[in-house]
Amino acid sequence: MAAVLGTLGVNLLMFLRFFFPRALYEPKTKFLIGYPSDFGFGVDTKFQKDFRIWVVRNTEGIFVISAICTHLGCTPDWKPSENKFKCPCHGSGYDPEGINFEGPAPRPMDRAHVELNPEGQIVVDLSHLYSWPKGDPSQFGDPGAILRNV
Ligand code: FES
Repeated sequence: MAAVLGTLGVNLLMFLRFFFPRALYEPKTKFLIGYPSDFGFGVDTKFQKDFRIWVVRNTEGIFVISAICTHLGCTPDWKPSENKFKCPCHGSGYDPEGINFEGPAPRPMDRAHVELNPEGQIVVDLSHLYSWPKGDPSQFGDPGAILRNV
């Protein structure tokens, strides 16, 4: 009797397990980060942990850097005292706009697509990146790579 009940119990557990598939839940690639007025001049790191991005405001507008080193994909650190991003893996350095200037990184870090929704909030789309491949024209001035006049 115990063997029968044990078998039935195991089968019931296997049946219930069917409703909880082993799935990996990736972070969203399109999300809101707030209003342009939420971002002052310089580098904002508050979304680094959740979305692996930095939000930057400069004299031209607001853009979003994908926080992935273009050497081998580590996440650089923002060093405010040195005014640069520094990759902990092999020492690549990037200026506050994500442009590489030291170490083995072959090109600047990519930027994510940004736009305003009807309510005026910034929508970031990490599935659409702008890059500046070595020897090719920069895409950083393309529509969607930066929010100007905000
Ligand atoms: S992964 Fe950043 S320098 Fe190598």
